Amino acid sequence: MDENNIIVQPTDNPREECLELMNKLLAALTIFERNVKIAHWNLKSATFQDDHVWLDTVHDDVCECIDTIAEEIRKGDFYPHATLTMCLQNSSIQETDSSGPCTKAAMFNMLTIGLNAVRVLADQLSTKADENKFWTIQDVANGILSKMNHHLYFVKNTIIDDDDEDDD
Ligand SMILES: [Fe+2]
Repeated sequence: MDENNIIVQPTDNPREECLELMNKLLAALTIFERNVKIAHWNLKSATFQDDHVWLDTVHDDVCECIDTIAEEIRKGDFYPHATLTMCLQNSSIQETDSSGPCTKAAMFNMLTIGLNAVRVLADQLSTKADENKFWTIQDVANGILSKMNHHLYFVKNTIIDDDDEDDD
């Protein structure tokens, strides 16, 4: 599915729209969680040990976000669409290959796509929740947004540093 093609069609039921967005967020986070763990295992890099450990800090945050959003869905007496099959169908990002090495460039690419896709969805959810005064949902969305922004900032700066080293 195209990363930009994730607009939820407006209905006259904002709670339903938020629920759909929360399930899309759960799906993207779940596929992203697998992708991060796969990179953690399969990375081939001169700085493997540092990257391997750092990827688990991203993974920990993604897992926390998954739990938070699934529990928020349950508060509404709905059930999270959480099987891997459901998540793959509903995800705005693709699963990465796990059958071979992951280069550092592939790792950065996967992280940039995944973090951005989750940010876009969390931002949409935050806006929709704000418009309808669903403050708890907005808090959850903003918490996810903040975690993704933190990691994306680090990824972008690390890519710039790596490019500088290549120029030397
Ligand atoms: Fe590990």
